[in-house]
Amino acid sequence: MKCDMAVIEIQELTKDFKVGFWKNHAVRALDRLSLSVEEGEVFGFLGPNGAGKTTTLKILMYLIRPTSGTARILGEPAGSVSLRRHIGFLPENPYFYDYLTAEELLTYVGKLFGIRRPALDRKVDSLLQKVGLESSRRLQLRKFSKGMIQRIGLAQAMINDPEVIFLDEPMSGLDPLGRREVRQAILDLKKKGVTIFFSSHILPDVEALCDRVAILNRGRLQQVGALHDILKVRIESHEIVLTSINPQTAAGLKPLCDEMIAMGERLQLRAATPQQVESILSFALANGGGLVSVNPIRPSLEDHFFKQVTGE
Ligand SMILES: Nc1ncnc2c1ncn2[C@@H]1O[C@H](COP(=O)(O)OP(=O)(O)O)[C@@H](O)[C@H]1O
Ligand SMILES: [Mg+2]
Repeated sequence: MKCDMAVIEIQELTKDFKVGFWKNHAVRALDRLSLSVEEGEVFGFLGPNGAGKTTTLKILMYLIRPTSGTARILGEPAGSVSLRRHIGFLPENPYFYDYLTAEELLTYVGKLFGIRRPALDRKVDSLLQKVGLESSRRLQLRKFSKGMIQRIGLAQAMINDPEVIFLDEPMSGLDPLGRREVRQAILDLKKKGVTIFFSSHILPDVEALCDRVAILNRGRLQQVGALHDILKVRIESHEIVLTSINPQTAAGLKPLCDEMIAMGERLQLRAATPQQVESILSFALANGGGLVSVNPIRPSLEDHFFKQVTGE
């Protein structure tokens, strides 16, 4: 299924949930959200709990209807039946029938997509291998850990070789090994050219995987772009480490910097602007000091994220 437009196109999506006993009170879960995801992108959908991530995914999967706005996938309206065979979905906290084994679940889902044996058996084998569950293929899902459920959930989302895959918090509840396996599975999908849209609040995973991210807070889009651009705009200070600084030079440097910490033989300074860095360096070097390092201090994605959420 090919289209000229973006693979995922969300326009002015708004969702009000009616709450309260009389359903007379509305909670706005999404507020005019617009974004588009291009073919082959790994797109991270970030936001704290309650931001509206799951609501967006449910609308894209046509599990709930928006109050207003539109969502298109591969050029088709989100509810289109013909779309089903081209997309995959891993819900948040997936629930599968407990008494099926891993291979039975995948076989069942494959049959729903009309895949027949023996191609189906090969498909199930390769998916179990991909998500690291080969040795548990005959284990009932009720005996699976959270991480294993998440991985079998990823496998079922891939059974129809989707062009676009939607994952709601795919790494949540996983141990480091499980996270690595899910990460690898996502990278393998990317290599095959699959467009991946996943929500997360686990930032190192997002940092490792995503081409672009959108940051959502209280139903509103705060920012969208390449992660390195979002982080680049905010070099907040520089850390300068000097050596061989005598007390007199240190006294002269003090007014030039924002912070000064003595660390044994070395002196660590902080400065906000490149101009400050220059004057510190020339003063220190002119007075017999030595330079160990200068590093821009970027806030981590966590810091950035936290600032978005708290409104600075
Ligand atoms: N079925 C619902 N009824 C009422 N409010 C809901 C419903 N689903 C979600 N919400 C509210 O919508 C907001 C967004 O929720 P959600 O999309 O689950 O956020 P996220 O997935 O980012 O944690 C929250 O305030 C949540 O309480
Ligand atoms: Mg959610």
